[in-house]
Amino acid sequence: MNSPRQRPAKALLEVRDVHVAYGKAEVVHGISMEVRAGEFVVILGRNGAGKSTLLHAISGLVAKRSGSVHFEGKDLSAASPRAIVQAGIVQVLEGHRVFHTLSVEDNLLIGTYAHAPRGDRSKLERIYTLFPELAERRHQMASRLSGGQQQILAVGQGVIGEPRLLILDEPSGGLAPIVIDRILTVAADLCRSGLAILLVEQLVEKALRHAHYGYLVETGGIAAADFSDGLREGDLLQRVFLGGAATSPQSTTFVEPA
Ligand SMILES: Nc1ncnc2c1ncn2[C@@H]1O[C@H](COP(=O)(O)OP(=O)(O)O)[C@@H](O)[C@H]1O
Ligand SMILES: [Mg+2]
Repeated sequence: MNSPRQRPAKALLEVRDVHVAYGKAEVVHGISMEVRAGEFVVILGRNGAGKSTLLHAISGLVAKRSGSVHFEGKDLSAASPRAIVQAGIVQVLEGHRVFHTLSVEDNLLIGTYAHAPRGDRSKLERIYTLFPELAERRHQMASRLSGGQQQILAVGQGVIGEPRLLILDEPSGGLAPIVIDRILTVAADLCRSGLAILLVEQLVEKALRHAHYGYLVETGGIAAADFSDGLREGDLLQRVFLGGAATSPQSTTFVEPA
């Protein structure tokens, strides 16, 4: 994707100097980052760098030691996860978690509960248009879906509530390359339709193909921030993902077949 050389002026998500600790161990050391209106932003970094923890701090799933999170100018620093969803931020958690004993359709309806207590069927058709693979299987148990279909369902569950920022934590996890491409393409399509995307991904090359802007997280801090092409060409990213001993199997695949 060709990146514009200037980020959009309007900030959607503004994370300022966020620190997060588990017990006494601080793992996010003062991260500041932004997602601007209409952007597809990726967060890259090795396993254990603190990416999921940062996302959880944004979504209100872990407490922040200090720092602030604003969304559309509203201070969400101390807001509950539910209030954050209602403000327009939805996170699809790592590991495509869906309710296996419910049908595809019931899983989707759960995604509307934070907004309407009984679920809102009127939103289903939009999701089925976006994801025909879910429409075909609407009455199937989620347990019968493939891993890729479950991930699409998890995305559908997030999107059905019509958030303005969709956060995806390593949606590629454990999936086949063709399925990963489908999910990243879906995310890019959603972005073009006006939904801002914040993606955490280890598949650097694939993620940078779709994202406008990216941050590289190393040991709980931002090591680099640039447009996708700048990050791709920079040697820091190469060093982090090709050098160093403690890389995961996925993170060594910086150079992927086109
Ligand atoms: N619930 C938790 N309790 C204690 N330590 C945790 C917890 N979750 C993550 N960590 C630790 O915090 C660090 C960052 O983890 P995480 O945010 O999951 O990294 P990433 O998503 O980049 O792989 C790691 O050292 C991890 O072991
Ligand atoms: Mg993680």
